[in-house]
Amino acid sequence: QKLDLELAAIEKGNFDHFMLKEINEQPKTILDSLRGRLNAEQGYITLSGLDKIEEKLRQAHRIVIVACGTSWHAGLIGEYLIEELCRLNVEVEYASEFRYRNPIISPQDVIIAISQSGETADTLVALENAKKQGATIFGIVNVVGSSIARITDAGAYTHAGPEIGVASTKAFTAQVAVLQLFALKLAQLRGTVDPAFFRQLLHELEAVPAKVAWILDTQVEAIRTIARRYKEADNFLYLGRGYNFPIALEGALKLKEITYIHAEGYPAAEMKHGPIALVDEKLPVVFVATKDVYHEKIVSNIQEINARKGKVVAVVSEGDETVNDLAEAVMVVPQAHEIVAPLLSVIPLQLLAYYIGVERGLDVDKPRNLAKSVTVE
Ligand code: G6P
Repeated sequence: QKLDLELAAIEKGNFDHFMLKEINEQPKTILDSLRGRLNAEQGYITLSGLDKIEEKLRQAHRIVIVACGTSWHAGLIGEYLIEELCRLNVEVEYASEFRYRNPIISPQDVIIAISQSGETADTLVALENAKKQGATIFGIVNVVGSSIARITDAGAYTHAGPEIGVASTKAFTAQVAVLQLFALKLAQLRGTVDPAFFRQLLHELEAVPAKVAWILDTQVEAIRTIARRYKEADNFLYLGRGYNFPIALEGALKLKEITYIHAEGYPAAEMKHGPIALVDEKLPVVFVATKDVYHEKIVSNIQEINARKGKVVAVVSEGDETVNDLAEAVMVVPQAHEIVAPLLSVIPLQLLAYYIGVERGLDVDKPRNLAKSVTVE
């Protein structure tokens, strides 16, 4: 026991918690996910797992992404990426639903399994079922040699390193980085992406680790202040559009897991269909409002919340001051193409959940009732 504690202290280095350490590792872990795979200078991606099932992917009628929890949120981003870049039908399924509802699966389907641990029971059984029906399985897994990694036909490890904090942080960004590589490479194979745009996106992706480092270097004080200001709130709403919609879901999930504050994530436009009824002067509403094609629309959503006296907190792009007068507080991320933007906009939301948890005196590395990997139903 004592030895375990001492070991833990050493591994945590200068950080108070594994969660904070793992959030701070992300410039390196994202780089590790891209390393040896992305060559922006020469304009190509190497993903040997994808090569292995290239023919299947060329002929695939659709891709089904199967996952749980945070990995499912990465899957939603994967859906947007693959549909936009590869013009291929994608469905994203909760593994627990997929395994029980007798889904229609054919040998022309490619299933992408996303899992940090590679041991989540629902995901594993969902894959076993799909395999029996002839589908091809591609794994995006962190733990090398895990059960899920072993039953796949091909895959790409995320290379995030061991994740100790129960709430997933660096494993999520690694999953998203691998999905970006997968979608770009497949788009190139299928001829569905303009070569100049492809190269632009490779450069955008290559720039991500340094941009994440910038957020970690410059935004912590602002985020701590926000955490102190809203730590007593009973509810939070998280809103985003497009690639930032799954980030709103993930921000809300991080907050629930770490702080035990009730939070909901919604597509920003969907707020009119229910959540807006919750808005009053006590409700913090976190908008993921980075500069992208939806920006004007999300600004009008912010105005609507403002008009109802909700407390607006926003993740905004560096240099964009449109939202400053409408928000009580902002967290800034560097400008980036919307396709890679979720890798940046999630970082402040991880930190926000972490600091609110710390402010509330909670065990952020081991939240009550949660397990790092759910190996039972
Ligand atoms: C648990 C963990 C989450 C994780 C989910 C899926 O709920 O606490 O952090 O996202 O399982 O786990 P997996 O290992 O399959 O990604």
